[in-house]
Amino acid sequence: MDKILVLDFGGQYDQLIARRVRAAHVFAEIRPYNRITAQEIRAAGYRGVIFTGGPNSVYLPGAPKCDPAVLELGIPVLGICYGHQLLCHLAGGRVSPAAGGSEYGKTALFVKNSPLFQGVPEQSVCWMSHTDEVTLLPPGFTAAARTDRCTCAAAADEKRGLYGVQFHPEVTHTEFGERILRNFVFGVCGCAPDWHMADFIEESAAKYRASLAGKRVLLALSGGVDSAVAAVLLQKAIGENLVCVFVDHGLMRKDEGDFVEKTFGGQFGIRLVRVNAEARFLQKLKGVTEPEQKRRVIGEEFIRVFEEEAKKLGKIDVLAQGTIYPDVIESGKGDSAVIKSHHNVGGLPEHMAFGEIVEPLRELFKDEVREIGERLGLPRALVYRQPFPGPGLGVRVIGEITKEKLELLREADFIFREELERFGCAGAASQYFAVLTDTRSVGVMGDARTYGYVAALRCVTTDDFMTAVWTRLPYDLLERVSSRITNEVPGISRVVYDITSKPPATVEFE
Ligand code: XMP
Repeated sequence: MDKILVLDFGGQYDQLIARRVRAAHVFAEIRPYNRITAQEIRAAGYRGVIFTGGPNSVYLPGAPKCDPAVLELGIPVLGICYGHQLLCHLAGGRVSPAAGGSEYGKTALFVKNSPLFQGVPEQSVCWMSHTDEVTLLPPGFTAAARTDRCTCAAAADEKRGLYGVQFHPEVTHTEFGERILRNFVFGVCGCAPDWHMADFIEESAAKYRASLAGKRVLLALSGGVDSAVAAVLLQKAIGENLVCVFVDHGLMRKDEGDFVEKTFGGQFGIRLVRVNAEARFLQKLKGVTEPEQKRRVIGEEFIRVFEEEAKKLGKIDVLAQGTIYPDVIESGKGDSAVIKSHHNVGGLPEHMAFGEIVEPLRELFKDEVREIGERLGLPRALVYRQPFPGPGLGVRVIGEITKEKLELLREADFIFREELERFGCAGAASQYFAVLTDTRSVGVMGDARTYGYVAALRCVTTDDFMTAVWTRLPYDLLERVSSRITNEVPGISRVVYDITSKPPATVEFE
């Protein structure tokens, strides 16, 4: 299988570059610029290297630089933005602050005849975002493109297969960006488009069948998509030797615990230990009202339960985790021995001794993990599950958590989600749920006075969950939900809709 190395210099589009290459059916891996040597690049058999963008100036002290020997490996290199400047700098050119000042946004691109620009018209549009530029080409290089402000929008040393582009081919604003990346991957590097998800499934199943033969593997299953896909993939590889522990803390949504058990234990025949720990968690949460304290209590108890169950299972050789590529990148460590915090419920304890950790999804992006989930036959409801906080409904029952309040919330939340989906609004919403506030209000039903809780509905639209806007749901939907909740959930007498965006609010209430 041909593969491309994306050498990360801190650019904001690094993952996008890898996604674009993978979309062309060539496997791409991202590595931090200072974590791989030229020799390791050669030994790993990469067909090409892409230097990413980054926020630095290559001529300043401390600017991130890779081993210059990378250019001598005989492996083609494509530098993008900062990567372009670094390439030219390492090859003996000069980089200076752009004479015309920073250039940002769409601009006309004029290209010359070059293997990198095969099929790209002489004039098109590219996306620029830079303050420095290459002002002297290195020996052996020619300028292969320009914009009005930048005389060296691309540099090429065709003989050595070294190319740099000042603009960003990986973003869709660059009209022929995809074509340019493909020209590099196929035309320059000579990769074959032979990376397919189905192969990935078969290859990793075969790999783990061999490497985990005779070993007992433990996986903490949360019901989220990542651990679910990891479980099914490993089950395919090692069958009975995989044991999944599902800690049901009693803070799941309606029927969720049973759904997890039925899906994994039943449909997939996975050896599943479901620990019904509701009573323990509620006991620990008695009297706790402060949100962070709730998280801590839930996290600690989770670890305790998980440890106890692991002990009961006897000797376990390997811990499996559903770590995915963004987790690896975000941790910045690329170190498989680092134990991922379990869905932020709380990290698994470091003193839990496992000889080995396997993370079968650590090379994959979320959408790729979803594709595997679908191919392996996981239900869509699970594959496309919206994010659910590790502490579960614990942070959606405001104030003290009790079994009764959890029951009220589960019913209200179920009605809201059911109606929202029935009204066809799920596509426009990124996350939607109900919250049980700690406020009670007076109402009237029939001829009787009621004094029940106020439930709040929350629905947000967002790309990244860092900011979010409240979703403009139809009044008819809100009316229907309000009517159903107040009629069907005795104990809730009023329903409000949260119209606060993030910021200033957060998505969750606590
Ligand atoms: P906030 O409330 O921070 O939520 O705006 C942003 C996203 O993160 C989820 N969230 C959590 N996920 N453990 C998690 O695993 C947590 O403690 C937690 N708190 C919030 C939230 O559901 C939303 O998707």
